[in-house]
Amino acid sequence: MRELNINLKNTSYKIIIEDGLLNNISKYIKEVYKNKKIFILTDDNVEKLYLNTVISSLKNDFDVDYVVIPHGEESKCLSTYAYVCEELIKKDIRRNHLLLALGGGVIGDLTGFVAATLYRGIPYIGIPTSLLSQMDSSIGGKTGIDFYNRKNILGAFKQPSMVLIDPKTLDTLDEREFNNGMGELIKHGAIGNKNLLMSLLNKPKINEDIIYESLTVKKAVVEIDEFDLKERMTLNFGHTFGHAIELKYGYKHGEAVAIGMLMAIKMGVDLGVTDNECYGVIKNILELYNLPTVEYNYKDYLTDVFYDKKNIAGTINFIFIPKLGEWTIYKITEAEIKEKLL
Ligand code: GLY
Repeated sequence: MRELNINLKNTSYKIIIEDGLLNNISKYIKEVYKNKKIFILTDDNVEKLYLNTVISSLKNDFDVDYVVIPHGEESKCLSTYAYVCEELIKKDIRRNHLLLALGGGVIGDLTGFVAATLYRGIPYIGIPTSLLSQMDSSIGGKTGIDFYNRKNILGAFKQPSMVLIDPKTLDTLDEREFNNGMGELIKHGAIGNKNLLMSLLNKPKINEDIIYESLTVKKAVVEIDEFDLKERMTLNFGHTFGHAIELKYGYKHGEAVAIGMLMAIKMGVDLGVTDNECYGVIKNILELYNLPTVEYNYKDYLTDVFYDKKNIAGTINFIFIPKLGEWTIYKITEAEIKEKLL
């Protein structure tokens, strides 16, 4: 078992990482929740795999009910949000009851948003079951839904009361979905932990220790910048170009981040910010996990990304890695882009 504490200005919470945890979650939930009623929100895929296990492990201590929604990103929408709220209200949820988010990123983001808004806030605990959500979205309190064709455009910061990670859930992911999560894990190594990054060259089994090391990188930046105003942006390494590629070519998120990291490294090298050796090492690791390393020229995307939402007052914050395991935020203007890169 490994345990991490996220310590924020107004709250703190534990992340427990333990093999087989799903069979034994009551003892952790009892640490932070003293009432009886628990509502689980899950999707129809995760329902088949883990809902009974979770209910069995809770039922001696809690009164458990659940809501199931269809799997997939399409469920992260206003109508599913309304459906979930309606079901919970019909089931007589109160503001001092607990929500459990059992599933991947869609379930985590949606449950968190329901928890942020229903009765102006009720507690929730994350039980992320995909590697992508264990590595990223379940930690740090970003919640939300997609709207008006824009991802996460309606949302709130709402920290969970606890996050429970069972690495055994990774055994049921198909290879592409597992590697999708590896994109974010590799990113954590690239920006914050060279030892973790280099250890991936041996393709180790992703276990409690590796998840712990990876989340330690996210913890460090979330603790100093909970509301994503400065340092937390470093988690966007590979995302600036990644988002452009993800939408255009239909990659999964972690796949797009993989390509986006290589594009950002090339740009960093051209600006003299990034050490040349980063490209080859990261490309090797991405290839080990069958993540795409197709070379898109970052220069073809600079205009697009300059005018997206990150363009604040004529500058854009790019995240680069000066060396493996280090990050820097580089403010670049349109004029500098034209002068140095185009
Ligand atoms: N997914 C990036 C963040 O949590 O800030």
